[in-house]
Amino acid sequence: MDAARTFADRPAEGTDEPSGPAAGKADRRDPGEAPPPAVRVGTLHTVGLGPGDPELLTLKAARVLSEAAAVAFFCKRGRAGHARTIAAPHLRRGVEEERLDYPFTTELSVDDPRYLLRMGEFYEACAARLARRLSAGQDVALLCEGDPFFYGSSMYLFDRLRGRFPADVVPGVTGMSGCWTRAMLPMLHGDDVLAVLPGTLDGPAMQARLHGCDAAVIMKVGRNLPKIRAALEHAGMAARAIFVERGTMADERVRPLRDVGVDERAPYFSLVLVPGRQRAR
Ligand SMILES: C[S@@+](CC[C@H](N)C(=O)[O-])C[C@H]1O[C@@H](n2cnc3c(N)ncnc32)[C@H](O)[C@@H]1O
Repeated sequence: MDAARTFADRPAEGTDEPSGPAAGKADRRDPGEAPPPAVRVGTLHTVGLGPGDPELLTLKAARVLSEAAAVAFFCKRGRAGHARTIAAPHLRRGVEEERLDYPFTTELSVDDPRYLLRMGEFYEACAARLARRLSAGQDVALLCEGDPFFYGSSMYLFDRLRGRFPADVVPGVTGMSGCWTRAMLPMLHGDDVLAVLPGTLDGPAMQARLHGCDAAVIMKVGRNLPKIRAALEHAGMAARAIFVERGTMADERVRPLRDVGVDERAPYFSLVLVPGRQRAR
C-alpha cells in the first residue's frame, strides 16, 4: 500500500490541518496556471504488537515499523514503555520518537469525574502532537500492545485523527489469545459463548454477565482481584479459572486462580481465563 497519499483537496480545519487547493486559492488561479503541488501528509499507522513475545509480532507490523519516520507510544512516566521495547528491533535508525507519558495511571480512579476530563485533555494534546508530524508529511507508527481495536489506548488517537489524515491499522495477537495459548487452555468448543469483561465492572454487573456465558476472560485485573474472585465463585466458575500474569513475556506466570493468595497484587499485565466446555465432543 502506498503510504504517500495526499489529502490536498480536503478543507483545512484548525491549525494542524494541511491546506490544499480547496482552501481558497484554486478559484483565483490564472487560466492555464499549473495547480499548486498537493501537500503530502503522513499516514497514521496504528500498529498492534502482540502480547509481548517478540515472535508474536506480525510480518506486516515489522515492515510498517521499519518504514515509519516517527514512532509514538504511550508509557508510564520514567519507564521505557512496554510497546516501545517490543518494537525496538524493528525501528529504523534515527526514527523520531513521540513519547506520550500518561499524566497518571492508578492515582485517579476511573469513577472519579476528573479521570475522564483529564484523560480527554491528554488525548487531545497527544493527537495534536501527532497531527503536527502528519501535517509535515511524516508517517507515524502509533504502537499498541496486543490488538489496537481491543481495549487499546491508541484508539483514542485513531478516533481523533482518522478523518483528518490517511490512516491504517495493523491487527495484533491479543493478550488473551497469547495467555490461553501459554496456559494450554482450549477455550471455546461448538456453540460455547465467551464473555470478555473488564475487571473494573462492579460486582453485580460482573456476576450478571458471567451467568450468561460458558467461558470468560476478565481483563484489567489490578486491584479488582477480590471482586473478580467473588463474582466467579457466585457464577460457579472459580474452580476452573486460571490466572495469567505477563503471558508470553519472559517473566510469565500461569496458575489456577485458587492458588493465588488473597492479598496478592495483580500486575498490570494479568488476566483471568475461564474455559468453556472441555472435551465437548
Ligand atoms: C488496556 S488493555 C489492552 C489490551 C490489548 N490491546 C490486547 O489486545 O490484549 C490491557 C489489559 O490487557 C490484558 N493483557 C494484555 N496483554 C497481556 C498479557 N501479555 N498478559 C496478561 N494480560 C494481558 C491485561 O488484563 C491488561 O490489563
